[in-house]
Amino acid sequence: MEIKSNNIYNTDCIDLMSNMHEESVDLIITDPPYGINFSHDHETYNRAPENVLKGYQEVSPDNYLDFTEKWIGEVYKVLKDDGTMYIVSGFTNLRHILNALDTVGFHLINSLVWKYNFGVYTTKKWVNSHYHILMVAKNPKKMKYHPFCRHPKKHRDEGGKSLNYADRESVWDIKREYWKNCLKTPTRLPYDLIKKMIEYSSDKGDLICDPFVGSGQTAYVAKDLERNYIGSEIVDEYCQFANSRIETGQYLIPRID
Ligand SMILES: C[S@@+](CC[C@H](N)C(=O)[O-])C[C@H]1O[C@@H](n2cnc3c(N)ncnc32)[C@H](O)[C@@H]1O
Repeated sequence: MEIKSNNIYNTDCIDLMSNMHEESVDLIITDPPYGINFSHDHETYNRAPENVLKGYQEVSPDNYLDFTEKWIGEVYKVLKDDGTMYIVSGFTNLRHILNALDTVGFHLINSLVWKYNFGVYTTKKWVNSHYHILMVAKNPKKMKYHPFCRHPKKHRDEGGKSLNYADRESVWDIKREYWKNCLKTPTRLPYDLIKKMIEYSSDKGDLICDPFVGSGQTAYVAKDLERNYIGSEIVDEYCQFANSRIETGQYLIPRID
């Protein structure tokens, strides 16, 4: 398979990355399958089912460590020495992701918290309102990080607080997007979350890879910010959906009955 940048491939991420040149990617942003037991509710993640594209591909909890070691191993090969990866994850299988990162040889740079409005209410335990984001690098000394890309050091808000400091704290409060009456895959990262990672950890013209594309959010934002993109999505319909959004630039695609 000949791999070209600015394409999303309908394939397994291992097939994609094993066919890519080693040390060719500047930044990986990804949100792997969660490895939780599949149920009807998970298929739509409690969203209006008529808007959600079917077929979400999960990974069995029993295989999660093996699966994770394999894809993180491939990422290690394709990432440049000064490259960075952000992995978004719930807590259920976070230990497997941390173990795999360690086994493969990545350095953990930051553990970020994405605080968001999940919308599932419970009285029997705490209400979930965050995800984890691990920021890792191959070589911490060479890794790209642009601390002043959004706010110069002296920028202050009206109360005198540093905007640069606030933007670079490890808890990110970013709203989910609901895409009302529009087509969607069950889980999507918000535009602003991806934008922040891209701005701080890459330059225009860099190549950004997402092994688990879903609706194509990483690639869509990368293109908007004048970066190159590449990705894989195992579900054909999701891959077509992502490609059509990215190629046309149409962010939301209304459902037609
Ligand atoms: C959590 S979602 C990613 C959502 C994405 N970040 C977005 O914003 O839309 C994980 C995706 O990985 C896909 N997937 C699962 N196993 C895969 C594999 N082995 N290779 C490529 N894609 C896979 C699933 O179908 C699903 O769309």
